[in-house]
Amino acid sequence: MTTNTPLNQSEIAEVSARLKRPIVLIGLMGVGKSTVGRRLASMLKREFVDADEEIEKAAQRSIPEIFDEHGEGYFRDGERRVIARLIEEETGVIATGGGAFVDDETRALILERAIGVWIDCDIDTLVERTSRRNTRPLLRGGDPKTILTDLMNARREFYASAPIRVESQDGPHADTAHAIIKAIDEWL
Ligand code: S3P
Repeated sequence: MTTNTPLNQSEIAEVSARLKRPIVLIGLMGVGKSTVGRRLASMLKREFVDADEEIEKAAQRSIPEIFDEHGEGYFRDGERRVIARLIEEETGVIATGGGAFVDDETRALILERAIGVWIDCDIDTLVERTSRRNTRPLLRGGDPKTILTDLMNARREFYASAPIRVESQDGPHADTAHAIIKAIDEWL
């Protein structure tokens, strides 16, 4: 199969049937992990869970509130526990927050028990996408482009240890979801 041929529905169902581990989406803020993840899960007919939403539910607070009231360390502890639980429950598709995969324990767990997919994207697109909502504490303290560039420089080596990397440029999220299924099909 060449990389440019789209998969049809029965080929997608066949990839889904071969999946024995959760798919965990990783990558910087704004790459579209939640939107792509929802689309991907529906194409594969699997459950989708957003880890950040689960952390908010467990804490009964929004992420900015968690950062403000308890600090980043507390958020990271909750994030580690939530992702471990979602993997344990064999959730089909899990979207993680941009810093989750930097945590040694979480990264080891994802690499061992899930299929880590790094959604990569150019910084200008991320700046544009993250400017639409003001819900990210890490972007509040300065120029978003500088912060995102610094985060990418610090995190790239971790993200790059995921077995699958897919690029999401400015195109529709459905294209990224499709590219992920194709990449997993080739990787499995
Ligand atoms: C973070 C990314 C956010 C959220 C938190 C911290 C990060 O998730 O987990 O604000 O460290 O990059 P998204 O990547 O979904 O925006």
